[in-house]
Amino acid sequence: MLLNRDDWYDTSRDLDWTFTYVEASDAFPARWSGVGAESADAWQAWDEPFRVSYRDYVRIQREKESGVKAVRSAMMRAGVYEKLDAGHVAASHLHMGTTCMVEQMAVTMQSRFCRFAPSPRWRNLGVFGMLDETRHAQLDLLFSHDLLKFDPRFDWAQKAFHTNEWGVLAVKNFFDDIMLSADCVEASLAASLTVEHGFTNIQFVALAADAMAAGDVNWSNLLSSIQTDEARHAQVGFPTLAVLMETDPARAQTSLDVAFWRSTRLFQVLTGPAMDYYTPLDQRKMSFKEFMLEWIVNHHERILEDYGLKKPWYWDQFMHSLENGHHALHIGTWYWRPTLFWKPNAGVSKDEREWLREKYPTWEELRPAEWCTDPGERVALT
Ligand SMILES: [Fe+2]
Ligand SMILES: [Fe+2]
Repeated sequence: MLLNRDDWYDTSRDLDWTFTYVEASDAFPARWSGVGAESADAWQAWDEPFRVSYRDYVRIQREKESGVKAVRSAMMRAGVYEKLDAGHVAASHLHMGTTCMVEQMAVTMQSRFCRFAPSPRWRNLGVFGMLDETRHAQLDLLFSHDLLKFDPRFDWAQKAFHTNEWGVLAVKNFFDDIMLSADCVEASLAASLTVEHGFTNIQFVALAADAMAAGDVNWSNLLSSIQTDEARHAQVGFPTLAVLMETDPARAQTSLDVAFWRSTRLFQVLTGPAMDYYTPLDQRKMSFKEFMLEWIVNHHERILEDYGLKKPWYWDQFMHSLENGHHALHIGTWYWRPTLFWKPNAGVSKDEREWLREKYPTWEELRPAEWCTDPGERVALT
């Protein structure tokens, strides 16, 4: 007789070894797991909210893959890419060049969870996470490869992280720290809870909506398909935080504060300009600030409150940066555009400036004067 999943799930996910010829601390060194011997028992309480069996996982992923690929072939036939707005195309170059290899780095992070996480339940979930991230990296490569014949810039999906391109170095540096060099606990707070559960919404939900409006059904579909996986494996952050609040709350506070600030700065480059300057005006759904407030700020405040943590010490500065940070980075990338692999869109025509002033009331007074006028008006001013 075939058992129902719930009859065997709790036993199978808790499968573990009792060591007889090595010390537990040698098999699971603290520098890999992030957990010292003194708190090892507390991690037995780690509980994941997402119950999935391998059989279910394969079935669902298979359906997702066929969905993405069906759209892909239809779109390639329809010649949609040639009709896309240049600003939108820049957003897709930026995304592919800077995130494809992050997906690949996430495979390594998840494989560390599979082997070194301090609970068998977490190690079990790591297997699914690793398969997810492999799928994401391969989808990005596949789609970029399809588009190479239209624009060689899609080559950056594969090569960006093997160059010294400065924008890419900033991304790589952050993910080196939180995915490749972090122990399991640190990686799960910084990568799973902060980036995957919070900030990827902006990249995968907001950009997916803008991409759909811009007519790029293919890319929108790819982003949404990836996000369904992120929403699931990102959940390992919550039980990790719950246990850490019992064993070392100060560490939880510091890890989250650092990860949240670094993520903010990163997404101010990756997504801020794409949403507020590259996406064609009539296709914008929300401003970067509106999206941040609704999807990131509320969400982060709730996590902090629910778990008994304080707001980070820089909170006022962070709120202030929502008015300024990504605008400043946009101006910076625009003036240094010969050094970039994507082709930024200035996005400050008369109508676009009006939109920016409406969304950001201080936009004009805080920007350099030449940025806020048409070239014709500029001549008249001097
Ligand atoms: Fe991913
Ligand atoms: Fe992920």
